[in-house]
Amino acid sequence: MTEDDPATRFASTAEQYAVYRPEYDDAALDYLRERFDLDGTGRLLDLGCGTGRLGVALAPHVDAVVGVDPNGAMIDHARERARVADASNTEWLVGSDADLPDLADELDPLRLTVMGRSFHWMAQERTLDTLQEITEPGGGVALLSDTEWLARGTADWQDAVYEVVAEFLEDPPERTGPIEYDDPWAETLADHGFDTARRAFAVDREWDADGVVGYLLSLSFCSPAVLGDDRERFEEAVRDRLEGFEAPFEEDATVEVVVGQQ
Ligand SMILES: C[S@@+](CC[C@H](N)C(=O)[O-])C[C@H]1O[C@@H](n2cnc3c(N)ncnc32)[C@H](O)[C@@H]1O
Repeated sequence: MTEDDPATRFASTAEQYAVYRPEYDDAALDYLRERFDLDGTGRLLDLGCGTGRLGVALAPHVDAVVGVDPNGAMIDHARERARVADASNTEWLVGSDADLPDLADELDPLRLTVMGRSFHWMAQERTLDTLQEITEPGGGVALLSDTEWLARGTADWQDAVYEVVAEFLEDPPERTGPIEYDDPWAETLADHGFDTARRAFAVDREWDADGVVGYLLSLSFCSPAVLGDDRERFEEAVRDRLEGFEAPFEEDATVEVVVGQQ
C-alpha cells in the first residue's frame, strides 16, 4: 500500500471524516434538486462518496443511489449513515473512478453524478468520457467543493492552527488565504459537451476545539497515519494554541458547485 493508492489515502481518517467534516449546505443541495429535476425518479451516482453525505442527503429525491469509494472504511460509514437515515434505495460499492467503465452498463442511465471534494483525485477525462455516455438528457454532473480552511481561511485562529500544523508536518500545504482559481473544471465539463454553470453558497460555521482537531485529522495530509506517533502531542499543541482564542471559532465558508448538464 502506498500513499498514492486511492484506497489508502484516507484510510486512517474515515472516523474523523464521518464526524467532523462539515455537511454540505442545504441551499447547494436544493440547487441540485431543482437544476436536475430530482423528483423521486432517476439514478444518482455519488462517486468518491466517502461517508455518503451527498448520496444519503439526496436519496429521498431520486429512485436509486449508487455510492462508490475506494476506501472500505468510508463505505462502511456510508452504509451506516444510510441505515440511520432509512435510505433503503442506496447501494454502496468499494471501487474508484478506474472501475467506472466496467460499471457503466449497470449504471446506465444516470440522472446525476455528484462528486464531492473527490474529482481532483480522479482521471478526469476518462471519468467524464464515461459519464457523458451514460447520463440521460437533462441529467448531468455536479462537482462540489468546500474550501479547505487550513490553507485558505483568513481568521486569526486559523493562522494559529496552521502554525502548529506546519511545526508537525514536513510538507504542509501553503497558507494562501482566499485565492480565485480559473475554473478548469467548468472548461473540462464544457469540452465533454456539458452546459456548465457555477454557483457559490456562503455558509457561516462555528467550531470548538474538538471540532478543529477532528477536522485536521480528517485531512489526507494531516491524517492519523501521517502524524503517526506525534498524534497525541499534535492534538495537545492545537488545543493549547486555541486557548488563546475565544470559542466558538468562526469560519466564513463557501460551498462551490460546478454543474454540467446534458
Ligand atoms: C475528501 S473525501 C470526500 C468524500 C465525500 N464525497 C464528501 O463530499 O464528503 C474524498 C474521497 O475521495 C475518495 N477517492 C480518492 N481517490 C479516488 C478515486 N480515484 N476515485 C474515487 N474516489 C476517490 C477518497 O477515498 C475519499 O473518500
